[in-house]
Amino acid sequence: FSVAACYSIDDLRRLARHRLPRSIFDFYDGGAEDESTLQENRAAFGRHRLAPRALVDVAAASTAASLFGQPLGLPMAVGPTGALAFGWRDADLHLARAAASHGIPFTLSSSGTASIEAVAKASSGRLWFQAYVLRNRDFFWKMIERADHAGFEALVITVDLPVGGKRERDFHNQFSVPFRITRRNALDFARHPRWTLDLLRRGIPVFENLRGLELAALSATEIASSVGRSYDPAFDWDRLAEVRARWPRKLIVKGISRGDDARRLVGLGCDAIVVSNHGGRQLDGAVATLDALPEVVQAVAGRLPVLLDGGIRRGTDVAKALALGATAVLLGRATLFGVAAGGAAGAMKALDILRDEFLRTLQLCGAASPQGLTADLLRHRFTPKE
Ligand code: FNR
Repeated sequence: FSVAACYSIDDLRRLARHRLPRSIFDFYDGGAEDESTLQENRAAFGRHRLAPRALVDVAAASTAASLFGQPLGLPMAVGPTGALAFGWRDADLHLARAAASHGIPFTLSSSGTASIEAVAKASSGRLWFQAYVLRNRDFFWKMIERADHAGFEALVITVDLPVGGKRERDFHNQFSVPFRITRRNALDFARHPRWTLDLLRRGIPVFENLRGLELAALSATEIASSVGRSYDPAFDWDRLAEVRARWPRKLIVKGISRGDDARRLVGLGCDAIVVSNHGGRQLDGAVATLDALPEVVQAVAGRLPVLLDGGIRRGTDVAKALALGATAVLLGRATLFGVAAGGAAGAMKALDILRDEFLRTLQLCGAASPQGLTADLLRHRFTPKE
């Protein structure tokens, strides 16, 4: 079983599960509490069916799109995911390069395991930096300045995480960052000797961009979700306005589920909105992102690009999100599983699969380009009577 034998994102997920200790895989795969939002994000795609247009010339169909006036090879971006190097050495850099070679942006997480500068050096593509707002304001502004100096195109502020979600798989597995070896997870690692030897040889990954920040006060359960007391639950609209005033380039706000919030963000001068519930890792019971999308699209009324993430695993998922009004989608676990399954080759494979599926979907739908994905293509699934 290797990357070459993977034909879908689900295959890459299975390969990652096979390779990784359970505690690491579960940290990537899991969600909060009952994981109902995690499942709903996927289920929402299943409720929408496509009614393809027949007899359209799609011989020259193209996946090309644009965002902020710049071309995109695909209407996608790699979204921020923390702790990637637990899956594969230099995973952040591999994903950044794979994104650049597909002509799409890579978002470095502030809980990333590569530094802002290392990513800027490794990739010639479009780069976004995601930040949680920290209690330590000096540290926060310095981090933002570094992203500015490194030439990052956009700052992504994640707003669905005033406190960490309750991720119970991590509690059961005693998974924590900073990483600790306990009797329980030692057994888990012993079952994955190759992964464990590699990790010991290269050293345990750390949050490169949070180096120097006091992380010591975190309790095990807070660290377990990679989110600690260093993140500021008092962050609000006024402080976001301050970020807007100080960050000179594109500002993207990630973690929106409501039309009223979206409307307010337009007024605040942000440049794009990401409809997201953090992949079901925060508020369990939150509305599926695909279900929240129409309300946000309507509120924004074309004044800003609306992006979506959560549950994107197939080219058809991307098509459905675009048909409901998204400009592009962010990839979370799809590319994370790719890089965790096979490093650079796995990162490329995940994007190759999504590009191939998305192009095929365009052609099968009778759409010559992403702009051809309009609401008339969608039907609700018929539910047979009991
Ligand atoms: C995330 N996500 C995330 N978001 C963010 O803004 N900053 C971060 O550091 C992280 N870290 C992170 C780690 C892991 C392991 C996962 C799975 C997710 C959320 C991410 O950006 C995105 O919103 C979701 O992953 C989208 O859902 P899917 O596509 O994974 O289902």
